[in-house]
Amino acid sequence: MERVIILDFGSQYSQLIARRVREIGVYSEVLPYGTPVAELMAKAPQGIILSGGPYSVYQKDAPHPDESLFELDTPMLGICYGMQLLAHAQGGRVEKGAVREYGPATLQVKDGTNPLFQDLPKEMRVWMSHGDRVAKLPKGWTSVAHSDGAPYAAMVAKDGRRVGIQFHPEVVHTPHGADILRNFLTRFCGCRCDWSMGVFVRQATQEIKETVGDDRVILGLSGGVDSSVTAALIDHAIGRQLTAILVDNGLLRMNEVQMVRKMFGSHFEFKLVVERAADRFLDRLKGVTSPERKRKLIGHEFIKVFSESAKRVGPAKFLAQGTIYPDVIESIPVGGNPAATIKSHHNVGGLPKNLKFKLLEPLRTLFKDEVRKVGEELGLPHEMVHRQPFPGPGLAVRVLGEVTRSRLKILRQADAIVIDEMRKADLYYKVWQSFAVLVPVKTVGVMGDGRTYENLIALRVVESVDAMTADWVRLPPEVLARISNRIINEVRGVNRVCYDISSKPPATIEWE
Ligand code: XMP
Repeated sequence: MERVIILDFGSQYSQLIARRVREIGVYSEVLPYGTPVAELMAKAPQGIILSGGPYSVYQKDAPHPDESLFELDTPMLGICYGMQLLAHAQGGRVEKGAVREYGPATLQVKDGTNPLFQDLPKEMRVWMSHGDRVAKLPKGWTSVAHSDGAPYAAMVAKDGRRVGIQFHPEVVHTPHGADILRNFLTRFCGCRCDWSMGVFVRQATQEIKETVGDDRVILGLSGGVDSSVTAALIDHAIGRQLTAILVDNGLLRMNEVQMVRKMFGSHFEFKLVVERAADRFLDRLKGVTSPERKRKLIGHEFIKVFSESAKRVGPAKFLAQGTIYPDVIESIPVGGNPAATIKSHHNVGGLPKNLKFKLLEPLRTLFKDEVRKVGEELGLPHEMVHRQPFPGPGLAVRVLGEVTRSRLKILRQADAIVIDEMRKADLYYKVWQSFAVLVPVKTVGVMGDGRTYENLIALRVVESVDAMTADWVRLPPEVLARISNRIINEVRGVNRVCYDISSKPPATIEWE
């Protein structure tokens, strides 16, 4: 399989580069900049891309790769800081630009015959974001393009194995960025670019079969995208050897269990076990109002219920999990200490490490949009693979204050109306999340001749790309009106609806 490695020097765009390369049809992986060359070469990459980063090559603590990287024959593309590293390592000179160049720039291609710019215009819009720039080319390199702020905006080694570009081809603000990356992949690395989600499914199926053999696999199914696609993929490989356990903790959305049953109805072979455990969870949550305490209790109870259920299912060698690439990828903190690698967070639904299973994580190399494509490839419905994220502790973090059956019922009904109206307005799949929150205050209202003293529902609708930051959506007033009218008219116990107009930060997406 063709593979390209992206060495991450702390750029916020490293994952984006990997996604672009995959979209072009070459499997790519992001590795920390200091990865030993022997480890890199064990992966037999067709090419290596050095990412950008917030550093200057002369800075004392600037991240540098394994010394012998530059001795390799493997084709290399340096982007921004990556270009400056290449120049610096090969005897060129890097200097501080008079001004930091940030934003759009016009790239003037000097040498249109160079394979990097084959079939591309002589003048292109590109996105720049740099302080330093290459001031003198290393020996044996030629300049192939310039911009106002960068005399050497693109440089190529005469042996045709090394390319450096000052601009960012991975961002949408560089309209021909994907073409430039494709030229690097095909004309410098010799890639065929034939990787696709169909190929992934075939390979993953084969691998799962070989790994699992005749053994059995269990999986915690949440109804979310990642665990559902994991189930579908493993089912595709080993069918009946898989048992999926869905824990109904009483904190799920309306009709969630039926929806999951229906989704995995007739086309799938695996066994679905539904643990009806609402009483256990709600008993534990009695009188609890602290958000952190709620999460902990729910997490503990989940482990108990799941472990007991797994025991009843019978011996299994493997525990499957819907871990995806952003959960495992190591990144270096921008502006922080580059030596400290962070984030080995696992999307595990809180399962303990000491369960005696081998882990099976067939999606751990995929980005979220790729996971969705795999789901569709395996026949999961579009509505399912494009669902909005839903927190593990469920509606408990949206029922502020004590979580009781009656308060859950109010929230569940309000939530169903929000989902329904967002779908009808064709907005459900266009926003990151849209949901209701039950706020623990009562307010006065009028109904007919009488006054009411009832609950307040807050509506939260946000847009986001990765949940790290988010903004509230400027919903059309008529959609707000419909949601509000329906909640107040149809949900008994609610007489007021408010719209949350806070961004993250400083607010969070969830209220708890
Ligand atoms: P916040 O509220 O931190 O949420 O802005 C960011 C994203 O994470 C989801 N979220 C959770 N997911 N368990 C989860 O599995 C949790 O305890 C949890 N809390 C928040 C939230 O829905 C949003 O997408």
